[in-house]
Amino acid sequence: MRRLDQLLANLGYCSRREARDFLKKHAVSVRGVAVRDPSSKASAADVRIDGEPLDHPDGLLLLLNKPLGLVCSHDEREGPRVYDLLPERWRARNPQVTSIGRLDKDTSGLILLTDQTELVHKYTSPKHKVPKLYRATTDRDLTPDLIPLFAAGTLLLEGEKAPCAPAELRLFADAPRTAELVLTEGKYHQVRRMFAATGTTVLTLHRVQFGQLTLGDLQPGEFRVINESEI
Ligand code: URA
Repeated sequence: MRRLDQLLANLGYCSRREARDFLKKHAVSVRGVAVRDPSSKASAADVRIDGEPLDHPDGLLLLLNKPLGLVCSHDEREGPRVYDLLPERWRARNPQVTSIGRLDKDTSGLILLTDQTELVHKYTSPKHKVPKLYRATTDRDLTPDLIPLFAAGTLLLEGEKAPCAPAELRLFADAPRTAELVLTEGKYHQVRRMFAATGTTVLTLHRVQFGQLTLGDLQPGEFRVINESEI
């Protein structure tokens, strides 16, 4: 059981201070009984607002097709943010919706967003080796010698003490400047830096898969609510 004003504020309906007013303007009920007192206690599942159940009271987990040019940081000074794509109420949630790991501004594709701090920790922890599949295009033809180099688990990136974990590189005979790379970790700018370590510049980068998850029909900028079991 939680205070109604806290519940409403955490789920982005209004601030705690606005709760009294919110309860005047909306028909809020707990187990069918109308409530006006912001300090009254309720279980989220028992609350209705204008007849509707609460909006994902147990937390949000979203799969987003990140467009190019958006940042995963919350800092507006870094440019337009992926969070700006979300409905206002989700942007007002507390804990705030944040990305699980990050994609650069110049990288597109699959990113998970959540307000569940434990999921951020779980899926960004080095212990949790979720495979992440990237598709890259490069400034030069790629050669098969890169495959064992990336797979060896010895590639050391500039400024890092520990080498990259073994990574699976896939090349395409009909597209010598395109590659797929599967990583189980997420060092800063890892894909670009791995290729840079071999003298190759990544021109475009797109994340295709995270665990079992793929984008399906989601267009850039579109998202859907998912269940953790889909990862
Ligand atoms: N590697 C990169 O270089 N950039 C990303 O956004 C993700 C992985």
